[in-house]
Amino acid sequence: MKIFHNKADLKKEIAFLKAQKKTVGFVPTMGSLHKGHLSLIHLAKEQCDTVLCSIFINPTQFNDQKDYNLYPRHEENDIKLLKNENCDLLYLPLVDDIYPDGVQKKTYPLNNLGNVLEGAFRKGHFDGVIEVVKRLFDIVEPDRAYFGLKDFQQLAVVRWMVDYFGLNIEIIGGPIIRNNNGLALSSRNERLNSEQLKSALKLSKGLFYIKDNYKTETFKTLRQNVLNDLEKDPLIRIEYLELADSSNLQPIKDYSQAASPGVFLAAKVGEIRLIDNIILF
Ligand code: PAF
Repeated sequence: MKIFHNKADLKKEIAFLKAQKKTVGFVPTMGSLHKGHLSLIHLAKEQCDTVLCSIFINPTQFNDQKDYNLYPRHEENDIKLLKNENCDLLYLPLVDDIYPDGVQKKTYPLNNLGNVLEGAFRKGHFDGVIEVVKRLFDIVEPDRAYFGLKDFQQLAVVRWMVDYFGLNIEIIGGPIIRNNNGLALSSRNERLNSEQLKSALKLSKGLFYIKDNYKTETFKTLRQNVLNDLEKDPLIRIEYLELADSSNLQPIKDYSQAASPGVFLAAKVGEIRLIDNIILF
């Protein structure tokens, strides 16, 4: 696996590959790789000639400086995992390589997509995601780029961005990967202690309960049952548990209001903020 620390060298490599008509699949990450990321690398390997992963903890998408400072960092282990997965290229930039003119915070006209769920609770987060993904796409010019469905709204935002800038990049969503107990894999999970981990498992359990019962109960009833259960746990603080149209993330009141409704959840377990979702049909 070739490792690049600066964009000039990476661009040369990409130009060389493009001259040979090789397709480039791109998996942008913030590192602390787990099986969710590796499944995206695997998918990209199946669909593209060359696979590039980037690891960059993007300062502009954190609305909480403490969260940025505490975000897990495991570069050496990440490199090992990527080599095992036969990833071809790794881009590991420093902040200056991505933001040569200093870290800038712009805003983008996401409108309704930016005002709901994560957008409502993490002001400016998606502007930061767009900022970095656009900069990465400009460097890499991938044929396809891969994002996990755990960050469902992020995937919708990236699709919006590709449309907004008229980019010729196919955006592919990879399934949520869960541990044996149903917890959606996330780099943040490693910050959970054993008590918090037990509490965190209740989040996906709540989503599965809704999926198992939506045919016979209203969302209002199921939501209340889940909240009653989660609110008993002193380690859990729910931010939202909402039914939304998965095509645009807008809130809906009952299942029949969307062709494909999903349930979206964010909660803090101790200090650690987790998100998860389940598509009902
Ligand atoms: O999902 C992530 O890890 C990040 O939001 C991304 C897409 C790499 C942008 O920093």
